[in-house]
Amino acid sequence: MSGGIAAYKAAEICRRLMDAGATVSPVMTIAAKRFIGEATLSALASEPVRTSLWGGPEPIPHTRLGQSADLVVVAPATARIIGSYAAGISSDLLSATLLATRAPVLMCPAMHTEMWEHPAVAENVATLKRRGVHFVEPGVGRLAGGDLGAGRLADPADIVDAASTLLRSSRSLGGVRSLHGVRAVVTAGGTREPIDPVRYIGNRSSGRQGYAVAAELAARGALVTLVSTVASSLDAPAGVDVVEVETAMEMLASVEACLTAPGSSADLLVMTAAVADFRPAMSSDQKIKRGSGVPDVQLVANPDILAGLAQARHANNASGPLLVGFAAETVRPGGPTLEELALSKLHSKGVDVIVANDVALPRVGFGHATNAVVIVDRDGRSVEVPLTTKEKVAVAVVDAAERILLTRSLTS
Ligand code: C5P
Repeated sequence: MSGGIAAYKAAEICRRLMDAGATVSPVMTIAAKRFIGEATLSALASEPVRTSLWGGPEPIPHTRLGQSADLVVVAPATARIIGSYAAGISSDLLSATLLATRAPVLMCPAMHTEMWEHPAVAENVATLKRRGVHFVEPGVGRLAGGDLGAGRLADPADIVDAASTLLRSSRSLGGVRSLHGVRAVVTAGGTREPIDPVRYIGNRSSGRQGYAVAAELAARGALVTLVSTVASSLDAPAGVDVVEVETAMEMLASVEACLTAPGSSADLLVMTAAVADFRPAMSSDQKIKRGSGVPDVQLVANPDILAGLAQARHANNASGPLLVGFAAETVRPGGPTLEELALSKLHSKGVDVIVANDVALPRVGFGHATNAVVIVDRDGRSVEVPLTTKEKVAVAVVDAAERILLTRSLTS
């Protein structure tokens, strides 16, 4: 805990972490002690609160805390602690522990809107994200002094959820990063196919499922490039490189560049993007005026990126990246089941894994925060993931890819 008015909520976070079975070692800054009593945290946590590098029974408490942690959660994280951590400055037990740990770190900022939006803070946050530090973004709401705005500490339940997802997905217990060194490319969002400088043919994909897959891969230690059509509206997941594209042809060029980069070619491609099947044959450089009549927009087919890569891999004696595709289906009563549709797409595209969802169901897929999928793979496995968050679907998708990558490395 660092020193902000939201420090009182740390008591609830601590209790919830304990309820979830964690061992919690509380660390408070001097300023945090002004907002909440040490006795409260000591009573709720697994150990008494530590507040200083000096004077305790251990000669070097920060290294023990940093080395033994499976996860460090900073809640609330003030502008000061974010700044010291970004700059690598150790000025108290909390900042020293942050520098002494190799465990994943989850920062939960809380401060006044002006501070949160200050360019210095924004740059420090961006620096930490680039280094792989995780954030639970603050919410918008009532702040100290009655002001309304962004900067309010996220809900304790959401913080504990993020902490447990991170622990599970990073496999950080015992320091195992199960996809360490794996190079992955993930595509996300719907492509936009221009008709003129203003109009385009698009689709309802939000990109959130692809971002969740990229975050999950990065949390397991993979080196991830996210080829995204929604880079301006979604924050890049921690530690992930984002390449912004708009059209299917740009996406194809970026994916091919990542897959064939000399010395750093990708081991895994997850095509979460909703790629337009057709594009206008011609895109006007000038805005088409209403007075000039209804335009006759001729369409031409876009290449199927995934199927094309699967064919190239086949032609290359199966050497190439593991290919994971998504399939948005609508299941008709009496027709093939979602699993059957998924299997037929697995074979027609020649890929290793297909993740299929029935987009006609409520709260499933496009534009929703939730999803429900069936994951089939080339080894005949089929896993059903009932309606849940896109983050949990991402865990199942990455589990499926990881299992095949592991079998590959054992047999090669
Ligand atoms: O054939 P269908 O569009 O249902 O296949 C969906 C899968 O194929 C998705 O993984 C999508 O990203 C990919 N796809 C592609 N290129 C296209 C269309 C879809 O790679 N032109």
